[in-house]
Amino acid sequence: MRIVVLVSGTGSNLQAVIDAVTAGDLEIEIAAVGADREGTYGIERSDEAGIETFVLNFNSFSTREEWDAALADKVASYGPDVVVSSGFMRIVSPEFIERFGGRYLNTHPALLPAFPGAHGVRDALEYGVKVTGCTVHWADAGVDTGPIIAQESVAIADGEDEESLHERIKVVERRLLIDVLRQLASGELKTPVA
Ligand code: GRF
Repeated sequence: MRIVVLVSGTGSNLQAVIDAVTAGDLEIEIAAVGADREGTYGIERSDEAGIETFVLNFNSFSTREEWDAALADKVASYGPDVVVSSGFMRIVSPEFIERFGGRYLNTHPALLPAFPGAHGVRDALEYGVKVTGCTVHWADAGVDTGPIIAQESVAIADGEDEESLHERIKVVERRLLIDVLRQLASGELKTPVA
């Protein structure tokens, strides 16, 4: 199974996938890693691991549609079976998702459908819930919507801050993402279009 991973930030979840592949614990090929801006640690990590990388800077395109089409072309050039949004902070178009047969995987640091959006951890804390968690799902063109594949809860400690909670969630998120990729690679879990 070939995947292309999209990142916008530090790429610690991506690093966990790279480590699992390198250790022989996950039999997939990371065909490429792409970012929507220059200078992300996610791209640096991939370069260090010898994985092909690309950057399509959102701000260098005059319209979202042009950026989205260029991203879809670039991703398609690697022939991925699954595209993974791993901390990729951009919404892609329905056309993008359709082009990959709906095989666009996303991870989110909250128990969807609760607390979607860019601040899922902060929003859960501010609401005052006692339990949050993470979700791996097939993304559609909405904000953190689409069929849920796996979820796991994380209890919030009294007085915990956003950073510490997010780090604890990410530990679980990485394990779930790797599990889902393993199940997809083995055929135990089916992609949306056979
Ligand atoms: C993850 O919690 C992801 O769900 C969220 O941003 C975080 C990405 O972290 N959208 P990293 O870039 O993998 O370190």
